[in-house]
Amino acid sequence: MSASPRKILVTSALPYANGSIHLGHLVEYIQTDIWARFQRMSGNECHYVCADDTHGTPIMLRAQQEGITPEALIERVHGEHLADFSAFHIAFDNYYSTNSEENRELAQAIYRRLKAKGLIEIRTIEQLYDPQKEMFLPDRFIKGKCPKCGAEDQYGDSCEVCGATYAPTDLIDPYSALSGAKPVLKESEHHFFKLGECEAFLKQWLMENPDQAPLQAESANKLSEWFEAGLKDWDISRDAPYFGFEIPDAPGKYFYVWLDAPIGYMASFKNLCDRKGIDFDAYWKPDSDAEVYHFIGKDILYFHALFWPATLKFADYRTPTRICVHGFLTVNGQKMSKSRGTFIMASSYLNHLKPEYLRYYFAAKLSDRVEDIDLNLEDFVSRVNSNLVGKYVNIAARSAGFIKKRFDNRLSAELDDAGRQLLESIQSKQAAIAARYEKRQFSEAMREIMALADIANEYVDETKPWVLAKEDGQNDTLQRICTATVNAFRLLTIYLKPVLPQLAEQVEAFLKIEPLRWGDSQTLLLDHAIEPYQHLATRIDPQQIEAMLAESTESLKKAAHSPARHGEAQQQQEEKMTEAMSDTIEYDDFAKVDLRIARIVKAEHVEGADKLLQLTLDIGEENTRNVFAGIKSAYSPEQLAGKLTVMVANLAPRKMRFGVSEGMVLAAGPGGRELWILEPHEGAQPGMKVK
Ligand code: MSP
Ligand code: ZN
Repeated sequence: MSASPRKILVTSALPYANGSIHLGHLVEYIQTDIWARFQRMSGNECHYVCADDTHGTPIMLRAQQEGITPEALIERVHGEHLADFSAFHIAFDNYYSTNSEENRELAQAIYRRLKAKGLIEIRTIEQLYDPQKEMFLPDRFIKGKCPKCGAEDQYGDSCEVCGATYAPTDLIDPYSALSGAKPVLKESEHHFFKLGECEAFLKQWLMENPDQAPLQAESANKLSEWFEAGLKDWDISRDAPYFGFEIPDAPGKYFYVWLDAPIGYMASFKNLCDRKGIDFDAYWKPDSDAEVYHFIGKDILYFHALFWPATLKFADYRTPTRICVHGFLTVNGQKMSKSRGTFIMASSYLNHLKPEYLRYYFAAKLSDRVEDIDLNLEDFVSRVNSNLVGKYVNIAARSAGFIKKRFDNRLSAELDDAGRQLLESIQSKQAAIAARYEKRQFSEAMREIMALADIANEYVDETKPWVLAKEDGQNDTLQRICTATVNAFRLLTIYLKPVLPQLAEQVEAFLKIEPLRWGDSQTLLLDHAIEPYQHLATRIDPQQIEAMLAESTESLKKAAHSPARHGEAQQQQEEKMTEAMSDTIEYDDFAKVDLRIARIVKAEHVEGADKLLQLTLDIGEENTRNVFAGIKSAYSPEQLAGKLTVMVANLAPRKMRFGVSEGMVLAAGPGGRELWILEPHEGAQPGMKVK
């Protein structure tokens, strides 16, 4: 280990203060926590900070709807979030709020520096305004008829029926989703951050240091796409009424939530530094030798890899060492779904299952790649039961009984050769496992640790302590074997401790030892008294899973009557599920629509389109069809290629900005991440008519 400890600041994305923590969020917080715990255990100075992301229109409106102040809302949610995180053993050094004095001061100071550098420009723009609510409307709060296909009740940025994207001013018969009033166009001055001028710097930041690249290859490729499309200047102001920080010398103008949210990382750390006497500047000055790691989901890369480094650089701070991007959680291979009960809140999980089981399962699935990770519930039960309980915990259970019954809880002072060899082979993996943790290749670390657990179990199988226990004159041998086994268990506990902190604590109590550190794996525990063994973990009963799913479905029904605990997207979904039934039609009307089974031969991103994927569909004709579908928010191309779906094959071709769309694929859901395309049962062939 290096002589001087590294100085590391690590963050997870700040969850919005108007929704509950669910298992998807936990992929991120568990991943970050494992990494931070590994760093601390290794002797590095590692601070893990986070906060609630509290500003913006949805939070302001949610508070209004509940008849409370935004401050009261964010305080309540802060408590709920922290309770969920603590229950999952997420050990933040500080969990703060973006609505803090530290954040206000930092945001304003950063803005002033950017302005002094000529990077802020004020422009007059025209925006839709709700004359009844007396406020400008974000795109999502304007609805109307799609300008392309005429579908009713579409949002201001894109059509969920035909996938078209447009400006809210293009909507036909627009209305405010808040008041129903007809919005009017109104001019207003907005502050823009000139991101375009930061391009040269951003390219250099990305490429500069190939050994310590700030992004994974997949994320770096995304950035290259964005560079090619051209960086647009960023609108960082919003008009009153808005819940946020006022812009200095611009009365009635507020920072857009995404301007002060990442600064919230610094503010949370500043608050910690002031309380603990840590040197804030040593971490944030331009030539700092400290390391800064941001863990985020793939949906917020643009903010973290473009706006954030540019903001920091030109406000004279250091830039992040690394942005660690993870994919999204699916449950049983599909998006989390409320109707299937797989939209699982942290609290519903905790009512039925142990938090460390999820930590272990996520660790066993997580890699350093951006790919989505699947929580397959059957696999979850079997991995926890066979690996965690069956292999690892069982090692202690198999040997500790004899130590208690026969040796008065005392470990031997000596080991046999075979025992020594077993322990040496476990110790020899220390560096390899450390490297896996460091590189966030947790699934590889878990695989190696379980392979060592296998070796330890083989040792017990071969030495057969239960047979020796019945033979005369084998006392010393028996004690040495059990001592080697308990030591193997201790070493594996060290390796698993970043993932299983509570279990490790129980083991430390059982072995009567100080908190285990990473370097302790090079020592052994001999001639030492331990506590009598008590059961450390039990297997999952599949009925616990059933009960959790049932509760998730149930709590959704309840939540429909109390919007208070739910986020904007969730609420939108609930509204959509009760969407009014359309007028009755005759069969002939239906028969006009020619629906066909289609194979998605290819799915690709469309340059310059943030909503669309380009699909190449095989419907058994000589040529394939080209279809643009507005499903990018919910699917990556890799998830679709090769799959079967259903398309409307006789829709008149439509010319779009990116090419001609020759039909339409069908999807359900309110939009955003919550969109599901259709997939036929097995056996259906491309070209078959759906009738
Ligand atoms: N408030 C912003 C982040 C601001 S950071 C300066 C935000 N909040 S969020 O609550 O929507 O998401 C918080 C984090 O959880 C994000 O990194 C997001 O990608 C992650 N996840 C949210 N849902 C997720 C899944 N279903 N799966 C995996 N990660 C997910 O974005
Ligand atoms: Zn449309």
